[in-house]
Amino acid sequence: MKAWMEKRILLDNVGVIDPERIEDYLERGGYEGLKAALRRTPADVVAELKESGLRGRGGAGFPTGLKWEFVLKSRAKTRYVVCNADEGEPGTFKDRVLMEGDPHRLIEGMAICGYAVGARRGFIYVRGEYALSIRRLERAIAQARAHGFLGRKILGTDFSFDIEVRAGAGAYVCGEETALLESMEGKRGWPRIRPPSPRTKASAGNPRW
Ligand SMILES: Cc1cc2nc3c(=O)[nH]c(=O)nc-3n(C[C@H](O)[C@H](O)[C@H](O)COP(=O)(O)O)c2cc1C
Repeated sequence: MKAWMEKRILLDNVGVIDPERIEDYLERGGYEGLKAALRRTPADVVAELKESGLRGRGGAGFPTGLKWEFVLKSRAKTRYVVCNADEGEPGTFKDRVLMEGDPHRLIEGMAICGYAVGARRGFIYVRGEYALSIRRLERAIAQARAHGFLGRKILGTDFSFDIEVRAGAGAYVCGEETALLESMEGKRGWPRIRPPSPRTKASAGNPRW
């Protein structure tokens, strides 16, 4: 491989597969990560994630494995996975490219997260102007359900998890994680005072991620 060559990982499928066909995603190894995760314990999945060094893309580059570990170890009974796809920053389109071009990758990642942290419900809070992202995500979620990758007893295991898409209404501040949670709960999108962090107390007092 030459120095100028790009090895795409996250965007590997974008522009290559038809994002409206789950079969295309499956042909390129889609949902194999979820199957592999379900064969292991949640703690093992989190440990591997920590080792991988994966970091958040929301701006702060926070280690994803640590974030998941906080939730896995929390004492809360009900946990949620909330994906911040508000993408309000002018000129930013990293999330849109992924949601429009490879929506199943996001869904698979959220299902793995749900398994690892012990959540049964996930939400994708999408910028309201991203009509195509919303349409493709909803179609992909329906396909994933039909294939047993979402819903009750996923792939014959005891793990149940489902995802809902929520559209934002165009407020930049709702991309801030605590304002996002307020907005998702139908309240005014104002940031919350911290502590507590959403890792320990998010929607209706339950943690996210
Ligand atoms: C005013 C404001 C707007 C923000 N907007 C976004 C956004 O549109 N998308 C995003 O991912 N993070 C946004 N953030 C950062 C989030 O609060 C949070 O740190 C981020 O979702 C964590 O993402 P990560 O887990 O990928 O690191 C914003 C923060 C502030 C203060």
